[in-house]
Amino acid sequence: MERLHITGGRPLRGTLAVQGSKNAVLPILAAAAAVPGRVVLSNCPPIRDVTVTRAILEGLGVAVQSSKGLLYIDGTGLRGSAPDPTLAGQLRSSVLLLGALLARLGRAEIPLPGGCVLGARPLDLHLRGLEALGVEIRCESGRLLCRGRPRGGVVTLPYPSVGATENLMLAALGAQGPVRILGAAREPEIRDLAAFLRACGAGITGAGSPCLRIEPAPLHGASHRIQPDRMEAATWLCAAAATGGSLRLTELEPACLRPVSELLKQAGCRICAQRGCLCLEAGPLWAVGPIVTGPYPAFPTDAQAPMMAALLRAEGCTLFEETVFSDRFRHVPGLRAFGARIETQGRLARVHGVKALHGARTAATDLRGGAALLIAALAARGESTITEARHLDRGYGELVRRLQSLGATVEVEK
Ligand code: EPZ
Repeated sequence: MERLHITGGRPLRGTLAVQGSKNAVLPILAAAAAVPGRVVLSNCPPIRDVTVTRAILEGLGVAVQSSKGLLYIDGTGLRGSAPDPTLAGQLRSSVLLLGALLARLGRAEIPLPGGCVLGARPLDLHLRGLEALGVEIRCESGRLLCRGRPRGGVVTLPYPSVGATENLMLAALGAQGPVRILGAAREPEIRDLAAFLRACGAGITGAGSPCLRIEPAPLHGASHRIQPDRMEAATWLCAAAATGGSLRLTELEPACLRPVSELLKQAGCRICAQRGCLCLEAGPLWAVGPIVTGPYPAFPTDAQAPMMAALLRAEGCTLFEETVFSDRFRHVPGLRAFGARIETQGRLARVHGVKALHGARTAATDLRGGAALLIAALAARGESTITEARHLDRGYGELVRRLQSLGATVEVEK
């Protein structure tokens, strides 16, 4: 989709089942390339990043089929070690094929990845980790040329990078001895990747803690259900709060959302969490204490933009500090177009609540920034148009149908 037209000012009301997690399925799809057998995945989100990753895998000789909501992936026929640069250039997560291909083939030629522009996104932690496991790496005309089966050993990450942790977990599957990752990321998506790899026969312990251990073992096919998308859930909660609505989200793990739901509670929403579901009843909102993003279990950076949009009409001033990415306020000028009052200074943003927002025409800059503009448009009085809406397709499946099911007036212009 290229453009969204929204008539705002209507509270979102209803029940939604949360989709499978984008940031869990993408590393699991990369991991499937390391498995010489058939993998069956359920609860895969219907999003563009999955479609692109699927095409990348097929280009490497991996067979992929889908039927009745299941994805069948068979890595037996894997032969290529160089993903298509045009496709891989669209996704940051394509870099995770590095670990998978090294584990399986002992070689990989990876184009430098694409994905959301959120400031500098170097790969030094991925590469230093792999070099520590004995992999030879050269960077040549925009490609990473990697050779050598990883050996066992210990890798210490100075920062709990999600991608570097996942890449090292995948490389370790084919290592010549046990691998320990210290200072590992603890995100729930790491736990889901570990659960998938264990089902495929890998010996993995410590997922969700700063110390991960991978015992290489022969891998085989398996079935796995992708965990719910805590970032999609966070976005819907923020949209319901911003529009003064009431929402029941099902098929999710409320505990994974705690940093977000606790803040919405502080801001004046009534929240009730039960096993597998979470309800939100919005009321007048007020500003909350500083919101500081950070690695899990801190407040997630991917929820920063949607939460900012939810608090545009909250009485008082909310301070945001973005500590994970250096340039993740690119949605702010777009929010100001709706009448929001936001001051930014480097990695700090102060949101001064306003009485009302008005319709506007703005362009999405990335996935979560686009979600923030959508939330502002839903809360604003009047008509709005969001262009470059294709950014939203990357991570939110069936967005328009799901919005309409909650009473939103939204149309898509092809
Ligand atoms: C994952 O990105 C997610 N993407 C991101 O979600 C998410 O924002 C991020 O983790 C943090 O939670 C996927 O899972 C596909 P990082 P990733 O490596 O792996 C720096 C979304 O909206 N860094 O933890 O790229 C880096 O520059 C997306 O769904 C290095 O300096 O995140 C950043 O500042 C956007 N060197 C910080 O660490 C490295 O080698 C966190 O990056 C690697 C990272």
